[in-house]
Amino acid sequence: MNILVTGGSGYIGSHTVIELINNNYNPIIIDNFSNSQPWIINQISSIVGKKITYFDINCCDYKNLKKIFEKYKFSGVIHFAALKSLPESYIFPTKYYENNILSTINIINLIKIYNIPYFVFSSSCMVYGEDNVLPINENTNLKPSNSPYGYTKQICEKIISDTLNKNTFYVSLRYFNPIGAHKSGKIGELPIGEPSNLIPYITQTAIGLRKKLIVFGNDYDTPDGTCVRDYINIIDLAKAHVKSLELMQEKMNSYTFNIGTGNGLSVLEIIKKFENITGEKLNYIIGNRRSGDVEKIYACNKLAKKILKWEPENSISNALKTAWEWQKNITRKLL
Ligand code: WQD
Repeated sequence: MNILVTGGSGYIGSHTVIELINNNYNPIIIDNFSNSQPWIINQISSIVGKKITYFDINCCDYKNLKKIFEKYKFSGVIHFAALKSLPESYIFPTKYYENNILSTINIINLIKIYNIPYFVFSSSCMVYGEDNVLPINENTNLKPSNSPYGYTKQICEKIISDTLNKNTFYVSLRYFNPIGAHKSGKIGELPIGEPSNLIPYITQTAIGLRKKLIVFGNDYDTPDGTCVRDYINIIDLAKAHVKSLELMQEKMNSYTFNIGTGNGLSVLEIIKKFENITGEKLNYIIGNRRSGDVEKIYACNKLAKKILKWEPENSISNALKTAWEWQKNITRKLL
């Protein structure tokens, strides 16, 4: 089965492409490399031992996108391609709305024209906004999100459920906080410039690329005062996409799932785990709160366990270890 993977050279996309190949799907990548690097495609090739087909196309470019749909008969589309930095989305909201929404509308229009039966959408726990009952389940009413980024995911979910016709089934996966890297050490999270996410900031600090990590606030209403998140191993997250394709083929239905472990960890707990696993001492200080941060959020993942037959199999310790291996490899490569 040919599966179009938009954003397939990105962090989650690249790990998912490997899982697709391991499960006998034929992924075809489109990516405009705005937040990834073309050499990642070669890295994927070397992990799976085969050539990867990819095209340098922006999903907002309808004309060129259509050419790919014309060229291949796709059975499914997994749509990762999106801008995803929460802090950047406050600075450039229009860019986020335009890119994330237009690209999704283009994909939907082409799915309809070419009658593609299966669609997986990269959504986010950011759709839930703040002050929810924890662990948060999929039936929780979505509040207007506190960031333009989160709001684009809410809007796209709504567009998908409102506009796809009956010939296409979809799964929206609401990701919590993906971390870690492939066990080969050949692919992982690759932020361009200063990272905004916690784990790459930690690994870059530990290796000496950054002076110190600033912990954004320790006066939250949490056990140690720092924010709590549901960190999920990237390998488990990637597997959820393959399971989604299988579920749609079997049940001929559409779904929305939380993809998280169900356990919350604070920033300080993550730092401690990282230090224990790697033996590195992390230079960090406590700073001010970051605007837009939710105090605590973690998933109820019962629905994914029951219906998607998915559950986390790889630990957070393993994710921190692989993230560190990746950081060491990438630093050697760049220096
Ligand atoms: C985690 C925690 C920070 C950096 C992410 C993605 C978003 C979405 C959901 C998919 C927070 C703290 C961070 C630093 C820190 N995923 N932190 N110092 O904000 O939960 O959002 O997950 O859609 O795309 O961005 O993740 O990694 O930025 O932060 O103290 O230098 O680490 O305050 O508590 P976040 P994050």
